[in-house]
Amino acid sequence: QYIKLEDYKPFDYEIPNIFLDFIIEDKRVIVKTELEFIKKNININSLILDGIDIFVEKIYLDESLLEENNYSIQKNRLLIKPILKETFTLKIVGTIKPKENFSLLGMYESNGIITTQCEAEGFRRISYHSDRPDILSKYKVRIEANKEDFPVLLSNGNLVKANDLKHRRHEVIWEDPYPKPSYLFALVAGKLNCIKDNFNTKSNKKVEINIYVEKGDEKYVKHSINSLKKSMKWDEEKYNLEYDLSLFNIVAIRHFNMGAMENKSLNIFNSKLILANKETTTDEELERIEGVIAHEYFHNWTGNRITCRDWFQLSLKEGLTVFRDQEFTSDLHNRSIKRLEDAKFLRKAQFREDSGPTSHPVRPEKYLEIDNFYTTTIYEKGAEIIRMLKTLVKEENFNNGFSNFISTYDGKAATIDQFVNKILENNKEINNEKFKTWYKQNGTPLVKFKRKWDKEKQILKIQVSQINSNKKNLYNDLPLIIPINIAIFLNSYEKIKKTLILKEKEEEFTLENINSKFDSPIISYFRNFSAPIKWETDTTFAEKLLILEFETDYFTIYDTIKGIYKKIICKRIYEEPDINIENKLITTLRSIIRNNKSINLSLLSEILSIPTFSEIESEIKKVDPLKVYKTIDDLNYLFGTKLKVELLNKLKEIDKNITKLWPEGKDERKLIETIWRLLLHSKYEGIKNKVISYIDSNSMTLSKAALNVFTRINCPERELISNIFFNKWKHNPVVLDNWFFFKASIEINNNQKNIEALFKNEYFDVKSPNTLKSILNAYVTRNSLFHSRDGSGYKYVADKILEYDKSNPIVISRFLKIFSTFRQYENPYKRNIIKVLDYIKKNKLSPNTREIIDAILN
Ligand code: ARG
Ligand code: ZN
Repeated sequence: QYIKLEDYKPFDYEIPNIFLDFIIEDKRVIVKTELEFIKKNININSLILDGIDIFVEKIYLDESLLEENNYSIQKNRLLIKPILKETFTLKIVGTIKPKENFSLLGMYESNGIITTQCEAEGFRRISYHSDRPDILSKYKVRIEANKEDFPVLLSNGNLVKANDLKHRRHEVIWEDPYPKPSYLFALVAGKLNCIKDNFNTKSNKKVEINIYVEKGDEKYVKHSINSLKKSMKWDEEKYNLEYDLSLFNIVAIRHFNMGAMENKSLNIFNSKLILANKETTTDEELERIEGVIAHEYFHNWTGNRITCRDWFQLSLKEGLTVFRDQEFTSDLHNRSIKRLEDAKFLRKAQFREDSGPTSHPVRPEKYLEIDNFYTTTIYEKGAEIIRMLKTLVKEENFNNGFSNFISTYDGKAATIDQFVNKILENNKEINNEKFKTWYKQNGTPLVKFKRKWDKEKQILKIQVSQINSNKKNLYNDLPLIIPINIAIFLNSYEKIKKTLILKEKEEEFTLENINSKFDSPIISYFRNFSAPIKWETDTTFAEKLLILEFETDYFTIYDTIKGIYKKIICKRIYEEPDINIENKLITTLRSIIRNNKSINLSLLSEILSIPTFSEIESEIKKVDPLKVYKTIDDLNYLFGTKLKVELLNKLKEIDKNITKLWPEGKDERKLIETIWRLLLHSKYEGIKNKVISYIDSNSMTLSKAALNVFTRINCPERELISNIFFNKWKHNPVVLDNWFFFKASIEINNNQKNIEALFKNEYFDVKSPNTLKSILNAYVTRNSLFHSRDGSGYKYVADKILEYDKSNPIVISRFLKIFSTFRQYENPYKRNIIKVLDYIKKNKLSPNTREIIDAILN
């Protein structure tokens, strides 16, 4: 029952116009759908439409009632007997029940607000439709409801009519002039307050901006409005793309599975990504909110105006739009730091996924549940492929290709192939088909480097090979085109920068006139993380220390240090501590802190952070989680102790800047958390009260930093700070999720009673995926008790998975992937995970979770 890319066929009909009439009643919504069909395939007369949990009352064909023997309603579809006309209108009257819908898909209720989520296949839960992204229609929508309960009635496009009706009811009509696929349809109805603003486009069109939130949340939208305006401006300046309607609506919803959704002119957001200010929101969250608002806004062109032909092309809109939002953040903030953060995230999340059982290409060939494909591979690896294209063709050509793509496919449903062809259109150096292998392969390729140097002739040869060790996919044997940014260091102040383009499985690059004063020229590879791959080099430890001295590329500095940390951790776990390497690193760090006054403080924070469990999990072969946790704690103790003097001095130095308002002061605040953590772990008592005092600060970044650094410090004060935070924020659900996260991270050895109490807490909202995710994610990634040797932590989580899979398969099937790396684990962990996976498997599961568990156990 796989859906396959090779089976793609255009639909037999076009549906140029759709009229939807929603009558909102107490217990149900009546949906009258009028679909205008034009037959494209004259050999076809039957018609099949998708539909789930819709109760059909009547069907009309061109105004006349269709007898029941002319159609049949089967599971999830409606089959209509041959219609001989070339054009006709089908009118379907059905009812749906948003109040009983807990899946957060289709139309559902959240805190009394009716809302929708149609991507990818949610529209079929609202109305019968062919529900595929290549059917583009103009939508006209009428909504009718009780005026008191549903004063606000929204849909896509322009409001063309608003009327009061009898019996305290009212109606509105919305019309969207731009044809769109059904997954971009949206409707919102309820008691919402509106904050208004506006933006003047470069052609001097006034766009009205409305942000809708629940009563009381009005004071939290300024940041989001500013972010939206910055996004609109940036897309005009960078890509010459202007907003195309005179109205842009955003609605914040508490119960939302994902981050946000780019419905045409009616973006719907998880409220945690709208409601923000510096007292309730951390610096990191402010930047993320800005980025997600930009992401959804940018979809208006990359996604909405040009959409995807089928869901195999998902990365066409998602990879490209992630690339665009990354560029936006780079332009607004610090490009080098953003690059480092994106590389870090890719390695932690995407590399992990790609090395496990749910690994898949950026353009998959088949799927069971499309909802399982909203992955970091489709999104972030997709963005990396586009970034490589830009590196290969250079910025100006990339921008031209991008503009050609937009103008050629505007108003159409396109493919990834078409995008790549446009970017490479005038390029003779890069073979299109060969480059596209990136979209077909899965797994993380490994590139190996070896230097050969003729000192006399000053000729440097770099031997390069590439290999993909994942053998399950035939495309994985083909060579990829890989841009490799390198720097060759000749001496302490001179370097040569170059981009090598690897095209074959093995290649040798010859560089002449390399006048190096070293025994062998020192090279740093994949500067700026120029490709999403892993690599091995013949660089010695001594050379790495020199790279740290000479490098200016943030990513490379970060990467070099992290490599050393990893080596230290592995030595401690599998052999003996390597005192020599540890001391050398400490000396290096000490001199970086002392002598490098101008170093960026976010970079310094990264350099001083001992890797976390999630950061290194996928890079160690035989994982003993409890040993890894202990080793990390030990290193925090050691580094905190040895660097104490320098860290305390640095604290003094940055203190005056930490109260500055975001984006200022953010580097200082990031560093302060790292320093606090090291000092607290080194048992330095002098810092404790100072840190505690920040729990109640008016900067959420500092409050949360204080919570974070106490997570693994077992002391009476930990309970105290938890209570202060809880009492201060219990009435703000978005902020309180931080407390749930903190509580679930804490190790109290009482058989999960501590965690279970969170589910029983009076402020725990069963319907909120945010809180559920906070608790579960904290427990499985921060709390080493999850890995209790008796398997009780795994069993506990398995039961939660079974419980919540019944209501929210999308969230649970994603969460289940936490167990996907068990093959790298040692016993008893591995054995225990297999036991609970078998247990989960035996239960009744959603199709989403079934697909993932089968993949994991396969
Ligand atoms: N298109 C949305 C975004 O990335 C995400 C929608 C996710 N929906 C889903 N069913 N998985 O901006
Ligand atoms: Zn997106």
